[in-house]
Amino acid sequence: MRSHYCGQVTEHCLDQTLTVCGWVYRRRDHGGVIFIDLRDREGFVQVVIDPDTPEAFANAERVRNEYVVQVHGRVRLRPEGTQNLSLPTGRIEILTHQLTILNASAPIPFQIDDEEVSEEVRLRYRYLDLRRPDMQQRLLLRARVSSTIRQFMDQHGFIDIETPMLTRATPEGARDYLVPSRTHPGSFFALPQSPQLFKQLLMMAGYDRYYQIVRCFRDEDLRADRQPEFTQLDVETSFLDETAITTLMEALIRHLFREVLAVELPDPFPRLAYAEALKRYGSDKPDLRIPLELVELSDLMGEVDFKVFSGPALDPQGRVAALRLPAGSKLTRKDIDGYTEFVGRYGAKGLAYIKVNDCTSGREGLQSPIVKFLPDAVLHGILQRTAAENGDVIFFGADRAEIVNDALGALRVRLGHDLGLVEERWAPLWVVEFPMFEWDTKEKRWNALHHPFTAPRDESPDALVADPGRSLSRAYDIVLNGTEIGGGSVRIHNPTMQQAVFDILGIGAEEAQSKFGFLLDALRFGCPPHGGIAFGLDRLVMLMAGARSIRDVIAFPKTQTAACVLTQAPAPVAEAQLHELNLRLRRVP
Ligand code: AMO
Ligand code: AMP
Repeated sequence: MRSHYCGQVTEHCLDQTLTVCGWVYRRRDHGGVIFIDLRDREGFVQVVIDPDTPEAFANAERVRNEYVVQVHGRVRLRPEGTQNLSLPTGRIEILTHQLTILNASAPIPFQIDDEEVSEEVRLRYRYLDLRRPDMQQRLLLRARVSSTIRQFMDQHGFIDIETPMLTRATPEGARDYLVPSRTHPGSFFALPQSPQLFKQLLMMAGYDRYYQIVRCFRDEDLRADRQPEFTQLDVETSFLDETAITTLMEALIRHLFREVLAVELPDPFPRLAYAEALKRYGSDKPDLRIPLELVELSDLMGEVDFKVFSGPALDPQGRVAALRLPAGSKLTRKDIDGYTEFVGRYGAKGLAYIKVNDCTSGREGLQSPIVKFLPDAVLHGILQRTAAENGDVIFFGADRAEIVNDALGALRVRLGHDLGLVEERWAPLWVVEFPMFEWDTKEKRWNALHHPFTAPRDESPDALVADPGRSLSRAYDIVLNGTEIGGGSVRIHNPTMQQAVFDILGIGAEEAQSKFGFLLDALRFGCPPHGGIAFGLDRLVMLMAGARSIRDVIAFPKTQTAACVLTQAPAPVAEAQLHELNLRLRRVP
């Protein structure tokens, strides 16, 4: 039906007679001549219909927005002065010989290029929303990313193997999506939170380089970078240690950016220990494009009279830290109140600050509600450690370390964006040396920081059990511009070590056998040393596309309440269907 995509009709086609098909983006009637911007997935082309082709002209008069039409005509240069050099097709137009209406369109609920439409409406009419050129570009980019990944993985000897969607609970820490079994009354499948256990079994089966671009399901609170179903590039290897795995995966990401975006990423990516990331950035996924760092003050504040600072400084779980904002004294009282409210969302009880008017004249040069509580030596120490200069403002956090890190870490990012300090570059890094476990103060038990199959650095199970809080894991996360785009680890390949980790997590031998018996069995039958990683493909594409939410790079995403407004899923089902599944609802809403 067509010879060219609309978006590909450039001056190379000059004087050719060709046929395009597409959607009417805009129609303009210029007294006797009709112009149509015709759109397809590759772009726009301007179509001109003259009254001296009466049949085409009559059809063009009937055309409305989003009609699907076929145009046969000759390519000519647009008259001088009407060329649009910002469009690839902007120098030419098609003079129509024949225009066929392939289908009409009812008036659409919103104009395709209207930026003000609510996301709810856009998702409800997603097939219209997906006609937007920027959405089409993002999905085309996503396809290019997947295809480039596959080429790289193929070239590096990885085999694509599918793993089941109907399976048992996998331990990634979120709630499961469950599927009732008709043939096993009262029993449920869980949709995989990741293929973690299957990919480990594939290593035990000898498929030493596995990958899969695979859907994962997690019932968790949603955010801009979280969906209930999302896509991972999932990878597992045997006989490679963490250096070899991260080096190879780093090469993949560099290749991807080079091929798809023509961007050279740093070689190698910087590496940062987890503890240092928290100390300097308050976050284990720091955005290194923001040139602000937290400064440790706990050791300075133990003796001061100001309880707000001395309390956390003397508490082993506490922290006092500063964040210096260069030239920040231009912030108004109202700005600072806004930031105080902002850090409050992370649990901070306040946001003390010092405006540095003149750092050479002692406390006289400092403007702040708290200098009166601090002795000269401490003030001097603050200025020195933060390397303060005139015109700066220094913010303070004092609380449990976790709260200080969350609050000042988030403030650092917020200030970076508000004040336009974010550097124009790509900032990838590896975060390494994670603790194996973190203590859950509410539940009073240890949780795995990565997942329970991650190997500790300790060689012996006894060393691990003796002091779980001290041991570091062989896990690594990859972070890009402040977003965690992937994470993985070297795994445990020894059944005794695996049981020791389960013990620390409070999973007894019996429970372990019933939940993960198949894995424990497999570990006994010749398990190779192995490890891997999974990338969040949606997040990676979101960043590469410059989008703000992963919903913008997923064709049919769920809303913030984990629903599909297009198909109205989830939906109630007929009583008969429930009956067949041996289910009865406790309360029909
Ligand atoms: P993890 O749980 O860290 O590791 O997941 C890997 C990556 O997947 C992305 N991701 C998500 N993306 C969108 N929506 C979500 N709800 C979501 N949850 C996670 C993140 C994350 O870095 N089996 C291990 C990997 C391994 O050890 O090999 C795993 O799934 O970018
Ligand atoms: P207050 O003594 O409560 O009036 O607090 C004095 C200053 O310290 C105010 O600017 C508060 O915002 C700030 N502040 C109070 N608690 C904290 C805290 N935990 N961390 C940082 N600043 C705080």
